[in-house]
Amino acid sequence: MAQTIELTVNGKKEALAVEPHLTLLEVLRDSLNLTGTKEGCSTGHCGACTVLVNGEPVSSCLLLAVEADGQAVTTVEGLACNGNLHPVQAAFIEKGGLQCGYCTSGMMLATVALLAHNAQPSEQEIRLALAGNLCRCTGYTKIVEAVQQAAEEMQLAAQEVQHGD
Ligand code: FES
Ligand code: FES
Repeated sequence: MAQTIELTVNGKKEALAVEPHLTLLEVLRDSLNLTGTKEGCSTGHCGACTVLVNGEPVSSCLLLAVEADGQAVTTVEGLACNGNLHPVQAAFIEKGGLQCGYCTSGMMLATVALLAHNAQPSEQEIRLALAGNLCRCTGYTKIVEAVQQAAEEMQLAAQEVQHGD
């Protein structure tokens, strides 16, 4: 029997009647039409389905939607703001950190979470933070460069805000 849950998705409150067996991934894609979140392995191994739940990266294929009741969820659709790409999105494009794009939304959300905790990660810390996100195309080097660039851009932006520029 369907259960009613409340999610805040990309800042918007959603009340949804969901079957208890449905994953957060299925509800995001099929009920809310947020298809930027991808399904790869369905077993928690590829990271394609990564979203943020209360700011932390989660494999949405492993979380039942009812378990996310009351939580704040961020998907790739929630990264851009007022028509401007998030610095992480801009850096992935600029550095060519994607090819087919299937892993990209998960990579970007894992990156957003990393940079929220560690504004200046080393290459090793970046590779470790993204170890759960698999990419079949890029060889990872350009992804790491994109994360480094995003970190620099975000630091510069934070400094400008601090100095009131
Ligand atoms: S689809 Fe969720 S980890 Fe692969
Ligand atoms: S860009 Fe194709 S899987 Fe990563």
